[in-house]
Amino acid sequence: MKFFIDTANLQEIQEANDMGILDGVTTNPSLMAKEGITGLNNILNHYVKICEIVDGPVSAEVIATDFEGMVREGEVLYDLHPNIVVKIPMITEGIKAIRTFSQKNIPTNCTLIFSSGQALLAAKAGATYISPFLGRLDDVSSDGLALISEIRTIYDNYAFNTQILAASVRHPMHIVHCASIGADVMTGPLSAIKALAKHPLTDIGLQQFLADHAKGNS
Ligand code: G3P
Repeated sequence: MKFFIDTANLQEIQEANDMGILDGVTTNPSLMAKEGITGLNNILNHYVKICEIVDGPVSAEVIATDFEGMVREGEVLYDLHPNIVVKIPMITEGIKAIRTFSQKNIPTNCTLIFSSGQALLAAKAGATYISPFLGRLDDVSSDGLALISEIRTIYDNYAFNTQILAASVRHPMHIVHCASIGADVMTGPLSAIKALAKHPLTDIGLQQFLADHAKGNS
């Protein structure tokens, strides 16, 4: 499973990249705003900075909601850097835009996926990735992992190439469960990625090894 980080924070992206396990980055307008990145030029420059840190796909989201606007914005984003993946919302106009980008071999990430029907439509349109929002479904007492499993079955039934990018990941067990049900990619916060490394028995065991070594060498 590929690991993407879901942030527009350059320090966090650098830290995850330095760990040597980072495959890509996802952003969205809320994450850009959280970093205080506003105004078209600043936003475009920020995407380039992210692309210069990570050697992998970087999702950059369109703001327009009409077909022509999404295609226009998506082309500007894609021209920024070869790593850019154009992120398009799951709306009817978005499906048309995904089809257009697919015909031009421009990679897309269809975002705001909350049902298998939406995932099926996006795959038929030729989306490179689809982003089911695991955590937001769990937040409203729905089963986000069950949705990802059903999408996995549908895509495997018909050998769709569209990759399932589990998004809205909140904690390390989300990542583990996504891996066990066959998500192609997960995108999550740095905290969830780093938490995978933690186990109290590891800390206790290491402390013991170092103490025993010190005793033997004193
Ligand atoms: O980038 C889309 C998705 O990962 C958002 O996550 O935590 O805002 O539900 P969250």
